[in-house]
Amino acid sequence: MSFETTIVQPALRDVEPLIVGREVRVFEAIDSTNVYLRDQAHAGATEGLLAIANEQTAGRGRLGRTWNAPPDTSVLLSVLLRPTWLAVSDSFLLTMLAAVVIAEAIEDVTDLEIDVKWPNDVQINGRKVAGILVDVEMQSPDRLEWAIIGSGINVNWQPSNDPTITQSATSLAAETGKLVDRSALIRAIVQNYDRRYLMLRNGQHEALRGAWIKRLTTLGQTVSVETARETFTGIAESVAHDGGLQVRRTDGRLQTVYAGDVRVRKHDN
Ligand code: BTN
Repeated sequence: MSFETTIVQPALRDVEPLIVGREVRVFEAIDSTNVYLRDQAHAGATEGLLAIANEQTAGRGRLGRTWNAPPDTSVLLSVLLRPTWLAVSDSFLLTMLAAVVIAEAIEDVTDLEIDVKWPNDVQINGRKVAGILVDVEMQSPDRLEWAIIGSGINVNWQPSNDPTITQSATSLAAETGKLVDRSALIRAIVQNYDRRYLMLRNGQHEALRGAWIKRLTTLGQTVSVETARETFTGIAESVAHDGGLQVRRTDGRLQTVYAGDVRVRKHDN
């Protein structure tokens, strides 16, 4: 029995999305669902196309890293959006969208409480359970052509046993103590994505910001920030309108971080 017939088809039975998931491609194994959708976007695919894989042979993570997950254990999916109506200065809303959708879907199917570490690590009690990768292409300097949002959720395996995964990571099974139904999770993700994306398209930016900020546990914490240029420590004070994390450095300067690794230093405060 294939991944498609046992997991994906039951997940999408009687689900009739308006945009996200109205077309779905399922793969037993693929290099990367984000890379697949990028080729589809270039070939003119319509928005809402969803790619789901049971295994990725070259899964991509943030900051040029790889994303590893054994077959049969995870939810690995990407969605192609064409938010040409969204100003580039608002594109962080897409990161917020994915984090909120994944958090709500996990809470729909488990009794776990999900939080978010800036910019988009989905966590349980400070341990990462899902990662989000947003790729975009621009139409012009201030308009998007397309966005591909990929999410990898650790469901039924123990990432802390994997020597290639260094950061503190966990899975839904490790946190709940039982196997979690991947099919139910995919169903909840598609339903939440479609609902929340329509809300965003209707201009409900503040509702999404509010839902994301409520889960963000980074603010007020002492953080160590690693960017391509430097590593520094400070207090995460706020999030700028464009999504940048504003960190008060120990020398008093306020620095806005857009790309980098932020580690919460639990014992410093
Ligand atoms: C991160 O580094 O936290 C982001 C990880 C994103 C992984 C997902 S799995 C599905 C999609 N396809 C990829 O190659 N990456 C994303």
